[in-house]
Amino acid sequence: MEHIPLEEPVDLLTGLATTRAIRRYTAEPITDDDLAKIMFAATRAPTGSNRNHFRFVVLRTGEVAHQAKALLGESFRSSWATKRATDSYDDGSGEIDHSPKARMARTMNHFVDNFESTPVVVLPCIRKRHGGMGDGASIFPACQNLLLAARGLGYGGVLTMWHSPVETELRALCGIPDDHAIAAVIPLGRPQGGHGPVRRRPIQELVFDGYWGTTADWIVEPDGTRHTQAGPPPSRDG
Ligand SMILES: Cc1cc2nc3c(=O)[nH]c(=O)nc-3n(C[C@H](O)[C@H](O)[C@H](O)COP(=O)(O)O)c2cc1C
Repeated sequence: MEHIPLEEPVDLLTGLATTRAIRRYTAEPITDDDLAKIMFAATRAPTGSNRNHFRFVVLRTGEVAHQAKALLGESFRSSWATKRATDSYDDGSGEIDHSPKARMARTMNHFVDNFESTPVVVLPCIRKRHGGMGDGASIFPACQNLLLAARGLGYGGVLTMWHSPVETELRALCGIPDDHAIAAVIPLGRPQGGHGPVRRRPIQELVFDGYWGTTADWIVEPDGTRHTQAGPPPSRDG
């Protein structure tokens, strides 16, 4: 089946600024051709010394995929329940039906409640060498390549970490050796909604000119840049 992208092709810089976390998918499968392109893009990412010590387990259909999605679904539901309470999603503006917080909570509910129906789930893995940032630096560029390629083909996904509670079982189920970390879980599918400009903090808060806290006056955000209030407030002393 030939896949017809839902959107016009996007140029690289536009794609970077408009690839959102997508958590709601239609039932449409990802074609072999498209998935091959997505995984090709992922595996073209850089690794330290070009060691290529990343591996990707792609879960689609079949018994192992079925069991892994079920295992992950349970883990995602309990992780979201914890986050929902810890981050007070049901308090304050969360009580107002159309507030961003309430909308996000509904998206999350839908995401975790339907996790087993996610068309494709990718487990990006990295052979453990240094631990922490050193290992992450060789797998997260590939994760972003993967998400951008998916977006370019009309799909969407989200990088998640909610596999931690079931990592041991997941590892056993999928035959992932102990010397490889499961860096994340990336569900993928056709978005029920759409991509669009992401919201981040104003760039002047994030980029400094030569010295911590010094505003970069030469930076002008493109028209239409959208902002969020999420994250720590600006600080000059770190
Ligand atoms: C390191 C990292 C961990 C994340 N973990 C989760 C997660 O466990 N569950 C989830 O639903 N989203 C997770 N996300 C997705 C972020 O919440 C999302 O990328 C962020 O809110 C920005 O969304 P936007 O690009 O749509 O604005 C994670 C993202 C990153 C980069």
